[in-house]
Amino acid sequence: MPYRVPSRAELQDGTARMTSISIQSVSKSYGAVSVLKGLDLAIGDGEFVSFLGPSGCGKSTLLFCIAGLEEITQGRIMFDDRDVSGLAPRDRNIALVFQDYALYPHMSVRDNLAFPLRQQKVADGLVRKQVDWAAGLLGLEPLLDRSPAELSGGQRQRVAVGRAIVRNPAALLMDEPLSNLDASLRVKTRTEIKRLQRALKTTVVFVTHDQEEAMVLSDRVAVMNDGVLQQFAEPMTIYRQPANLFVAGFIGSPQMNFLAGPDVPGGQGSNRIVGVRPFDLSPAGATGDGFRLTGELALIEPAGPVHYLDVQVGETMIKGTCADPSGLAPGAAMTLEAPGHCLHVFDRDTGLRLAT
Ligand SMILES: Nc1ncnc2c1ncn2[C@@H]1O[C@H](COP(=O)(O)OP(=O)(O)OP(=O)(O)O)[C@@H](O)[C@H]1O
Ligand SMILES: [Mg+2]
Repeated sequence: MPYRVPSRAELQDGTARMTSISIQSVSKSYGAVSVLKGLDLAIGDGEFVSFLGPSGCGKSTLLFCIAGLEEITQGRIMFDDRDVSGLAPRDRNIALVFQDYALYPHMSVRDNLAFPLRQQKVADGLVRKQVDWAAGLLGLEPLLDRSPAELSGGQRQRVAVGRAIVRNPAALLMDEPLSNLDASLRVKTRTEIKRLQRALKTTVVFVTHDQEEAMVLSDRVAVMNDGVLQQFAEPMTIYRQPANLFVAGFIGSPQMNFLAGPDVPGGQGSNRIVGVRPFDLSPAGATGDGFRLTGELALIEPAGPVHYLDVQVGETMIKGTCADPSGLAPGAAMTLEAPGHCLHVFDRDTGLRLAT
């Protein structure tokens, strides 16, 4: 990279570069409606964190609280050791990228990129350098003189990201920035965002309801439901050791199978729920001491690298997988098997994961 990212001081602000975001017992209500319920979350310097959860769980609200666009009702938000809870958005040195990129339609790409710097009255020479740097990083050089109307969705999205990073913000907050893109462009653009973040080492908070997006991009994922943090951990920890039934059911596609009561071998009368992922459950061999389930094969679904096998086990339809379904026929008896270490056991009453 020919050009070094200037420091905040060089951008004439004088604010020290932020290193971390700490959300401490943060609650947010709209009147009587409680939207965030006592969240605690510590995001490290340069970390890429996703907020993941179903629609309405409070992801955007929490992001806007970090940005200062929403006031928190209780708790505090720290940037490093500075309490920013009462600060206006412009005093927080963060950049936001939204789902609708809201580029200025009458300005060229170059002027869109330069806009945040011009607003800060940054010297012309530095504006040019910063715009060139961001354009180079995002492959926007050939497009600098176009207007937003002359760009594809993906290109517009890159301009929006470029406009967010030219100021060298201490943190980049993104709210579903890829959701206007078609599926293949989404995958391509998310790779670019990850690459960019690795190069910039900027702290990124990324809101999405797409679990694959969150897993692929993030150092850590914060899974939320109904205003409550469910689990905050590395993607594969969340996948392999979901903390509770909600996370277990939300992460992973197809969804984890759950068995309760009489359908759990030896589980009659127990208050345990056993979970097993379709990818861990395959046709049983002649021998083996794994966890076995026997039922009737209802359906074979080809899905590219695997076939899904739907097996009716007692009251429950269980999904397993196999590479090659030849010799299998719907209507026949079928035993699926999973290695013992692939089982997830939860307490039915609390929903919490139990040691296996
Ligand atoms: N101004 C408001 N007044 C009252 N309730 C609100 C207000 N803004 C948001 N809410 C409620 O707060 C909850 C959280 O909203 P939020 O936008 O944070 O959800 P989200 O997780 O970002 O969802 P989505 O994935 O749909 O964007 C929702 O139930 C929403 O209806
Ligand atoms: Mg939202």
